[in-house]
Amino acid sequence: MNRSLRIRGFVVAGILLLSPSWSSGDSPDPAAVERGRVALTSTGYLKPGWSGAAYRRAGSLWGENAPAADTPADAYAAAFNQRYGLHPAPFPNDGLPMGLRRAGEKSGMQIDCMVCHGGSIGGQSYVGLGNTTLDMRALLYDLTRADDRRLPPSLFHLNTARGTVNAGMISAVLLSVRNSDLSVRKIPLPLGANLPELDVPPWWHLARKTTMYYDGRTDARSVRSILQFFLAEKSLEELKELEPTFRDIQAYMKSLKPPKYPFAIDAAKAERGKTVFAKTCVKCHGTYGPDGHYPNRVVELAVIGTDPARAQGLSDRLVAHYNTTWLAEDYPADPEMVGYQAPPLDGIWATAPYLHNGSVPTLAALLKSVDRPARFKRPPSTGLEHYDQVQVGWKFTVVADPPSPPLPPFEAQFIYDTSRFGLSNGGHRFGDDLADEARSDLIEYLKTL
Ligand code: HEC
Ligand code: HEC
Repeated sequence: MNRSLRIRGFVVAGILLLSPSWSSGDSPDPAAVERGRVALTSTGYLKPGWSGAAYRRAGSLWGENAPAADTPADAYAAAFNQRYGLHPAPFPNDGLPMGLRRAGEKSGMQIDCMVCHGGSIGGQSYVGLGNTTLDMRALLYDLTRADDRRLPPSLFHLNTARGTVNAGMISAVLLSVRNSDLSVRKIPLPLGANLPELDVPPWWHLARKTTMYYDGRTDARSVRSILQFFLAEKSLEELKELEPTFRDIQAYMKSLKPPKYPFAIDAAKAERGKTVFAKTCVKCHGTYGPDGHYPNRVVELAVIGTDPARAQGLSDRLVAHYNTTWLAEDYPADPEMVGYQAPPLDGIWATAPYLHNGSVPTLAALLKSVDRPARFKRPPSTGLEHYDQVQVGWKFTVVADPPSPPLPPFEAQFIYDTSRFGLSNGGHRFGDDLADEARSDLIEYLKTL
């Protein structure tokens, strides 16, 4: 394995963790939407990080679950997706799941945006639904080992649980090895960011947002902030060349719509719930339907009270450095940290677990904070048999004590432990004072969004 490929594999793995940006307001031009769809789903923008054979060889690393060498392609794909929490591609992808793609004349393989931003629910894959089953760490480590290489030890947790991922830290690390003119530095800048792993937000909210990312500090029109993702291997000139393509991809993202709730809804109950929502929730989350208004409110940390690590972990130095680069020239990040943006709730039924860190498995627990589990086991897939239509969200099992002896890593990643850095489940207590009946009406209404 040649050395530059090895370095690239690592850097790209790192890069991937980055996140991007977007915008709002104007309704996207249909031709741009279509160009963006094609650009996002049929093209790889990174050099290969792994050999094409790593996909098939990864299975040999699963111990007693390793599939036989002659397992048919379809059965292998299903096992691979189950193992790493990936989903079948709803577009032609050469037999690979969403998030992986052939790269470099098909001799290699790479990850793309949909490794995190491609999810499924009820057996249906959606581009733009956050991937709530992904085990990013296992995926990157196994593909690398399958190529007979090792990833260097990471300075931070990529993910301790399935479905969360430390996108922010990757972006922080990438920025730290670029100067203000985006030339590459040998010695990283001490930018001081300390970000936690996060749940992945759905792309279908972008059309309503004027600011984006969980802290609402980036203008949602920024295309360049998405390109941070490519800092691992692209020069400033190359980033400039990619910008128009990613403007189209942004238009595509803004055209996406959430799937409809697939079960029956009690219309009279939902109508009563709408009244509860109007009294208790609209001021932050806005109104829905054709005349819906989204207030785009960023709520102070002291008021929202959810885990502060994401909001506080983006250091002033990192933001200041970002703002000296081309990436921020048109839309600089807001130097002031306020707290968390109250997101639109369109398609909220489909995006459990809730809050920016995915710490609350159901809407019922979100709206009654004493019912939130401190440690829980997530279901093995997004099949509807694991979906809870009463609590609305994923069925979960409470795990009372940390397992002893510790579980093997593969099983341990199914357990979400709110005592870990960035993963606490407090705050957002706006549903606590509701009567049980009113809360259940409210949940019925939320199914309609
Ligand atoms: C490793 C996982 C990962 C990858 C890969 C990734 N993202 Fe993200 N993305 C995230 C996470 C996590 C967030 C939330 C970050 C935050 O606010 O701190 C996010 C946020 C975003 C947002 C803002 C959404 C909002 O409503 O605030 C956009 C837009 C976005 N990503 C686009 C992309 C695009 C385009 C790519 C590919 C070039 C990409 N992402 C690759 C994980 C990822
Ligand atoms: C004072 C403003 C405010 C009020 C009032 C409020 N929320 Fe929120 N809500 C927020 C913020 C901010 C977040 C994001 C917090 C985070 O992720 O840490 C949020 C998150 C949520 C989420 C999770 C979104 C996701 O994608 O994970 C849901 C669901 C929600 N709120 C529903 C409600 C409902 C229902 C009510 C009324 C009972 C309500 N909220 C009242 C500010 C508010």
